[in-house]
Amino acid sequence: MDQLRNRDSFVNITNDFSGGVRTLRVRAKLKLSELSEAASIPLEQLKKIERGLLELDSKTAVSLGLALGVDPSDVQSAYEMFAPKATPGEGYTTSKRGNLEFTGPRSPVSASDKRWRVLDLFCGAGGLSYGFEQTGSFVTIGGIDLLPDRIATFTANHEHALGIAGDIRETNPQVIGRAAGNIDVIVGGPPCQGFSSIRPFRALTESDQRNSLVEHYVLMLAGLNPRWFVFENVVGLVTHEGGEKLNAILTAFKEMGYSTSWRIINAASFGVPQNRERVVIVGNRVGVDFIWPSPTHYVSYRSMAGRRAELMSSIELEKTVLQPAVTVIDAIGDLPAVASGDEVTAYSSNDKLTDFQKTIRDGSTVLTWHKATKHSEKMMEIIRHSGSSIKDLPAGMVTSGFSSCYSRLDADRPSNTITVNFVHPSSNRCIHPFQDRALTPREGARIQSFPDSFEFSGSTAQVVKQIGNAVPPLLGKIIAQAISDQDPIHIPRTSGQRALSK
Ligand SMILES: C[S@@+](CC[C@H](N)C(=O)[O-])C[C@H]1O[C@@H](n2cnc3c(N)ncnc32)[C@H](O)[C@@H]1O
Repeated sequence: MDQLRNRDSFVNITNDFSGGVRTLRVRAKLKLSELSEAASIPLEQLKKIERGLLELDSKTAVSLGLALGVDPSDVQSAYEMFAPKATPGEGYTTSKRGNLEFTGPRSPVSASDKRWRVLDLFCGAGGLSYGFEQTGSFVTIGGIDLLPDRIATFTANHEHALGIAGDIRETNPQVIGRAAGNIDVIVGGPPCQGFSSIRPFRALTESDQRNSLVEHYVLMLAGLNPRWFVFENVVGLVTHEGGEKLNAILTAFKEMGYSTSWRIINAASFGVPQNRERVVIVGNRVGVDFIWPSPTHYVSYRSMAGRRAELMSSIELEKTVLQPAVTVIDAIGDLPAVASGDEVTAYSSNDKLTDFQKTIRDGSTVLTWHKATKHSEKMMEIIRHSGSSIKDLPAGMVTSGFSSCYSRLDADRPSNTITVNFVHPSSNRCIHPFQDRALTPREGARIQSFPDSFEFSGSTAQVVKQIGNAVPPLLGKIIAQAISDQDPIHIPRTSGQRALSK
């Protein structure tokens, strides 16, 4: 009888693949590194396969089978039995589902955390949702972006968030809802190309291949039904197709039961050291007539949108009561000098820091991303001659460019809008006010109000794009604060959030 029992349990063990490929490896008495070598599969890939987080193709199953001394179909069965149990939410892991790659939260949000849960669509580096978190009332629980390096930056700075790398058109609200859970706020700015105001939103279906990215934002909202949303976009949306695009979007939100309000906001009016105008729509389905926050800083500038009722900016009369706009030098003046092609990693003394500099250093002790583009000798010649506009260059030095190309920033004003090319002098005004080089990524990040502690991931070229594309976190914080102040439900606030300056 005992013998039989032992035999039964042996049979059970040999057919029990529920522990996945790892079970087979342990049984073959191989270490991960040994199996990786024997099967010629990179160690990281093998780890993911064992955790059920990377699909096992038939070629890999054959290699593993040979190395483990088992039939490849057993490797396949072992994998398939275990894979459904793998959850991307465990630790910092990635898994492929269809064409999307999921990066689990480093620390899943706890059930006792009562902050409101934010989903960031088209999240990029996550500047907008990072600003939400700075209020202490919101926690970001998910973000989706096409590009893996954006998701790497996003998850590095949003410890409770699930990062989804892939095309939003490959997924739907059900998948996102299952993976991320309840959502109180959706934020994001979909690229508007391809969106036509002619097709009515009410005719949308999730499976329609023609859906534009704006339509996918709308579908996510319809499917996940958060209390609030924030939709951010370029000012051109206001005038595009004579305003029809914007109207169509507003109509869609209203038809879904959201009260909406929109404004054209210049980030400089709220303490960001940059004239950066964006159109922002805020909506809620809790009946709040949203009151927009009032500018805190005075700035004199000409709006790209012309004169409109929705333009939110400070007026000359308020000059005396508002704080002066934060200038380029207020924002970056403490950073050590760096020559073209060089990098500096040590801060200079922290004497006489401006309020903005004190806050933005955020306790960092090592200076990162303060490396300047190596300019060619010809470009150095242009830079040495550069002034406030391309017209300052000697005749014939450059043959084409808008007036703001090859131009120096004014130290005593907020910066011009930072673009995705701000490390190249041929782009919109981005040469340092006094040094002969374009801005460094760190300077661009400061001008966008990213604290020095924010971790960027990816190549320099991609990090510059992440910075240039972001919603300034400080602007995100201002909008989030207004939402939490106006919702009828009191949102518990956690202490210990680092606050960006106001
Ligand atoms: C303006 S950026 C977002 C910036 C972000 N809100 C922030 O504050 O940092 C727009 C992002 O949309 C992403 N994107 C473009 N097409 C996409 C798609 N089809 N699916 C998902 N993300 C997409 C881009 O990779 C880009 O990072």
